[in-house]
Amino acid sequence: MRKAVCPGSFDPITNGHLDVIERASGLFDEVTIAVLVNSTKTGLFSIDERIAMAKDAASHLPNVRVDTWSGLLVDYCKTHDIRAIVKGLRAVSDFDYELQMAQMNLQLKGVDTLLMATKPAYSFLSSSLVREIARYGGDVSALVPSGVHKALKAKAGGN
Ligand code: PNS
Repeated sequence: MRKAVCPGSFDPITNGHLDVIERASGLFDEVTIAVLVNSTKTGLFSIDERIAMAKDAASHLPNVRVDTWSGLLVDYCKTHDIRAIVKGLRAVSDFDYELQMAQMNLQLKGVDTLLMATKPAYSFLSSSLVREIARYGGDVSALVPSGVHKALKAKAGGN
């Protein structure tokens, strides 16, 4: 079985993430959305909230599951016999960061990373901008799955 993981903070999951996950689910037998901790970021949603939103957003994809892990991503991959990490690449500005992590993960445990070009329509989209726009009451309904939109309204007071 060909398995891949789509890792990230997913705080919250956006339509850009979901596009990459949907396309990965067509390429692999099983795709895991791994909600992980990025030690450089502070969160708006708890890990449990992020998992619930990711599960809801991916509920139409039968070969996609959602999980979490508090250690290294490569250890998750080894534990679950996953050989490929799939991440979205929005723009050149993502490249250095993603390449560095991809090469580190390859060095650490020989796990390969596939960088998937996002749809141009999502190249500007990030969870951090979504959080900020929602915090100031802006409309993010076109940028996130409907469950995330509801959760943002409840948490941050967005439109
Ligand atoms: O959505 P993000 O914040 O860009 O995703 C980054 C993430 C969570 C994938 C990365 O920080 C990660 O893999 N964290 C788990 C701990 C780990 O393995 N760190 C070493 C990365 S080379």
